[in-house]
Amino acid sequence: MLDRTSNAPDLPPEIARRRTFAIISHPDAGKTTLTEKFLLYGGAIQTAGQVRAKGEARRTRSDFMKMEQDRGISVSASAMAFDYASGDQEYRFNLVDTPGHSDFSEDTYRTLTAVDAAVMVIDGAKGVESQTQKLFEVCRMRDLPILTFCNKMDRESRDTFEIIDEIQEMLAIHVTPASWPIGVGADFIGCYDMLRDRLELMDRADRNKVAESIQITGLDDPKIAEHVPPQLLEKLIEDLEMARELLPALDPQEVLDGTMSPIWFGSAINSFGVKELMDGIAGYGPEPQPQSAEPRQVGPEEKKVAGFVFKVQANMDPKHRDRVAFVRMASGHFKRGMKLTHVRTKKPMAISNPVLFLASDRELAEEAWAGDIIGIPNHGQLRIGDTLTEGEAIRVTGIPSFAPELLQGVRAGDPMKAKHLDKALMQFAEEGAAKVFKPMIGSGFIVGVVGALQFEVLASRIELEYGLPVRFEASQFTSARWVHGPKDAVETFAQANRQHISYDNDGDVVYLTRLQWDIDRVERDYPDLTLSATKEMMV
Ligand code: G4P
Repeated sequence: MLDRTSNAPDLPPEIARRRTFAIISHPDAGKTTLTEKFLLYGGAIQTAGQVRAKGEARRTRSDFMKMEQDRGISVSASAMAFDYASGDQEYRFNLVDTPGHSDFSEDTYRTLTAVDAAVMVIDGAKGVESQTQKLFEVCRMRDLPILTFCNKMDRESRDTFEIIDEIQEMLAIHVTPASWPIGVGADFIGCYDMLRDRLELMDRADRNKVAESIQITGLDDPKIAEHVPPQLLEKLIEDLEMARELLPALDPQEVLDGTMSPIWFGSAINSFGVKELMDGIAGYGPEPQPQSAEPRQVGPEEKKVAGFVFKVQANMDPKHRDRVAFVRMASGHFKRGMKLTHVRTKKPMAISNPVLFLASDRELAEEAWAGDIIGIPNHGQLRIGDTLTEGEAIRVTGIPSFAPELLQGVRAGDPMKAKHLDKALMQFAEEGAAKVFKPMIGSGFIVGVVGALQFEVLASRIELEYGLPVRFEASQFTSARWVHGPKDAVETFAQANRQHISYDNDGDVVYLTRLQWDIDRVERDYPDLTLSATKEMMV
């Protein structure tokens, strides 16, 4: 496990003020609305309604593809930087977008390797939903700190204890209330801030007005009664007494370890509870954390620059086949024009046009610190999992490639253009949009994905970006395993099982399977070999 520290001794203030996080939620819980309010308070947008990349999962297929075609939208929303003042401190927030559709869970996983914390948004009426749970599990694999925002409290919602219990039970994490709702549904008037003994009152008349804070000395302060009707006050006092007795108190170290999640209640659309959550991210969402790497971990405080590619987006501008590699800076202070070493190829790369993403714009990044996300336009040299350093041969680890769950053959509609297909597929493989396997016997390719929608998106992109109609067709194979072992043994195995063997885009040997039985047989007959369902991206 990584050595997470809340206050690394020598973190330069520029790095210590950075908070890099993602929002995870089930579609419709309010991720887009919350993102918009973050950007609004971060000064990145002027009015609500400017964030166009809305919850993908609610879209129809054609909408989704149209959105994919309009690359600008999803790209500008991929990583957003903005400043936020909490107390007398100015923070730099880097919000990394997670793809909403469950078909892209692998992409989501990789996105979460680039953040130090996650904000989990749940709908107060629905609690923990399927997608929330899946995404949470991914965060847990990385022990990410998780802050929870229970949204839509302006509507009829579930009992507060019930919501907290559900999260604790379904996700096996301690939950500590940072705020407590006062009233339910139409009677909801605001929250009691349990961390600062304040009343936060929601303004129903003006959705964009930030709640009024009323400082009090505690529950016995007579000032409360001026703002909270007697029956709600009675219930609040009773609830808080019980909460303080039954629920764990906030322990920053536990939050950092990912074993405790503080929960805020609010209503994103009413701009309520959002600032408190942002203050929570500033206060408890950790500063940039060390990154696991080989041969040694990289610390954010290190003077020398290191960063890694966690996402590649191609053809953002169809006129120039450029690609943008999204790089999470792991250490140091990067300046535009720096020459970094591309560790995989050992070649120097001058980073002259790095971009920084703001809400609806991208601009040249003159500098970046550990924790920041920059985009590096390139012609395909940068791949997911690649590390860039100031010379040291460090390889960031923990960015896996998962075995696909669906496999199909693919053919060019026009056989004369088969070469283009080859190129297009390699590009998508490098982008991480699909797994592409070249069978040892025969022609053509087998494409593997995690969700069926990806085939359609791929077909549409190949046609759009390469002018090449393609046909996907059923394949006899259902899954794939990377083959590891001594070189000779792998070669002997490949020759003896030619009809099952293919090569991935790195040239590594992959065993295509039809049934679990195939895997069992290989494990029995070839004890020297291991079959694995994941492969670390990189060589
Ligand atoms: P998502 O990105 O997680 O999918 O959710 P999104 O923000 O798009 O919100 C989903 C719906 O929930 C939207 O309504 C949005 O307005 C609404 N919503 C978000 N926050 C709150 C809240 O605090 N209270 C209430 N009552 N509703 C909220 P929609 O009708 O689907 O879209 P729209 O027409 O309002 O944009």
